[in-house]
Amino acid sequence: MHRIISNERISPNVGRMVVEARYVALHRKAGQFIILRINEKGERIPLTIADADPVNGTITLYYQIVGKTTTDLSLLHSGDWITDIAGPLGHPTEIKKYGTVVCVGGGIGIAPIYPIVKAMKENGNKVIVLIGARTRNLLILESELSSSSDEVIACTDDGSYGRHSYVTDVLKEIVSREKVDFVVAIGPVPMMKAASEITKPKGIPTMVSLNSIMVDGTGMCGGCRVTVGGEKRFTCVDGPEFDGHKVDFDELMIRLNTYRDDEKRSMELHHTCKLEGAMPHGT
Ligand SMILES: Cc1cc2nc3c(=O)[nH]c(=O)nc-3n(C[C@H](O)[C@H](O)[C@H](O)COP(=O)(O)OP(=O)(O)OC[C@H]3O[C@@H](n4cnc5c(N)ncnc54)[C@H](O)[C@@H]3O)c2cc1C
Ligand code: FES
Repeated sequence: MHRIISNERISPNVGRMVVEARYVALHRKAGQFIILRINEKGERIPLTIADADPVNGTITLYYQIVGKTTTDLSLLHSGDWITDIAGPLGHPTEIKKYGTVVCVGGGIGIAPIYPIVKAMKENGNKVIVLIGARTRNLLILESELSSSSDEVIACTDDGSYGRHSYVTDVLKEIVSREKVDFVVAIGPVPMMKAASEITKPKGIPTMVSLNSIMVDGTGMCGGCRVTVGGEKRFTCVDGPEFDGHKVDFDELMIRLNTYRDDEKRSMELHHTCKLEGAMPHGT
């Protein structure tokens, strides 16, 4: 059982939770994630470890409220408990001195970018961060990223804040303006695909973190299968980070849509049960 220290809304659809997970806090590295289950009958969902405090034994998670489990997560309070937190899972990001590193975060992908930005900076890289969201109040972590990097460029799709453009348009400008040695792109699949297509002709190594559907997180169920360089790989044990120039993004998009109708039904049933005063578990 894991005690929640704090749980707050930082934008209309994003929550930040600090929760006790002593082993994870001590051993996690940038790029790794946990799989949590709110209660015994709950669904297992993966979330990136955005930050950790090994002294107090806590980790920080940022979650976008998109469906049943993330809605349930947003309703918990400090002092409540989460039944299971398994991790740290996945391979850590390969952190070393590359030279100039551009980190691109889209939407909730800004949260997983944060520990990578910090680690890249601590390892002597020049770090340029591009963050993007649909509109101003969905942009997260700008001040934290500013204090951990050399430059942060914020973009919004509707022009309500920062540059009125997609992060990938700015990435295109930067790779034409200066020598870039490594790119990290995390966010919606179309964004990671576009970023990889920009860097490929220039031969800039590009790492993406894939958000495939995960169930067991141990390489056994096959739920998170992706194709990378023509080979089958499992995001939970072989990833979550892969060479963006080799990922079959089109297949990933199709697989991510597989359960969309079930997820919608689960959310609708959840709302109905709440209105009737009964909280369903594991629906
Ligand atoms: C390695 C990894 C790290 C992630 N890190 C973060 C993070 O830091 N913050 C964050 O907000 N989100 C993160 N995600 C996505 C997050 O797991 C999903 O948003 C969450 O599972 C949604 O659950 P739900 O019940 O609220 O929504 P649902 O209605 O069940 O699903 C909404 C959408 O979330 C995705 N999803 C659903 N179930 C899963 C699952 N078991 N595994 C993966 N994706 C799923 C699907 O794209 C789905 O269409 C990460 C995913 C992966 C694979
Ligand atoms: S989540 Fe089951 S194989 Fe990766």
